[in-house]
Amino acid sequence: MIRSPQNETEWQAYYELRYQLLRAPWGQVKGSEQTADEAQHQHFAFFNDANQIIGVGRLDQTAPNVGQVRFMAVAANQQGKGIGKAIMEKMEKVSLTLGYEKIILHAREVARPFYDKLGYQLVAPSHLLFGEIQHYLMEKTLDA
Ligand SMILES: CC(C)(COP(=O)(O)OP(=O)(O)OC[C@H]1O[C@@H](n2cnc3c(N)ncnc32)[C@H](O)[C@@H]1OP(=O)(O)O)[C@@H](O)C(=O)NCCC(=O)NCCS
Repeated sequence: MIRSPQNETEWQAYYELRYQLLRAPWGQVKGSEQTADEAQHQHFAFFNDANQIIGVGRLDQTAPNVGQVRFMAVAANQQGKGIGKAIMEKMEKVSLTLGYEKIILHAREVARPFYDKLGYQLVAPSHLLFGEIQHYLMEKTLDA
């Protein structure tokens, strides 16, 4: 099931997964996995049969008709099973209901093939995170 976390325990698990996958390996402090405006965005957590969160993603609105995917992560021992794809497809579906015509994202180099497969196209190299992780701006026009 993919839905927003709904209670304190779920929110903690949600942010913990983000931290473990996207911040801890680069020695970043706890808290660096969150932004000051989390409440303004849409949150997607993949719950397994044991009701544990094993995948996460956030959907922001960056322009009236444009969504941005951020903080995509799937637990290390659960990758390659279609969980990331399921979260992305859910975010695309919700984007359509919100009237978004396009989704943009900044892909880490290692994740580019994942987004390629989902139909995202490379726009241009973007920022370097923590001095070493090259990101690439990618976009996809949504079919209504
Ligand atoms: C990138 C990530 C979110 C993908 O999630 P996932 O659940 O492992 O991906 P899926 O199993 O849904 O993969 C969907 C498709 O993409 C392919 N794919 C996924 N990651 C890939 C990779 N690194 N290289 C090549 N192909 C990849 C899969 O083989 C699959 O192909 P298929 O549909 O033909 O079977 C996940 O690997 C992850 O959390 N990585 C570490 C954190 C990270 O880098 N996040 C992205 C930040 S931009």
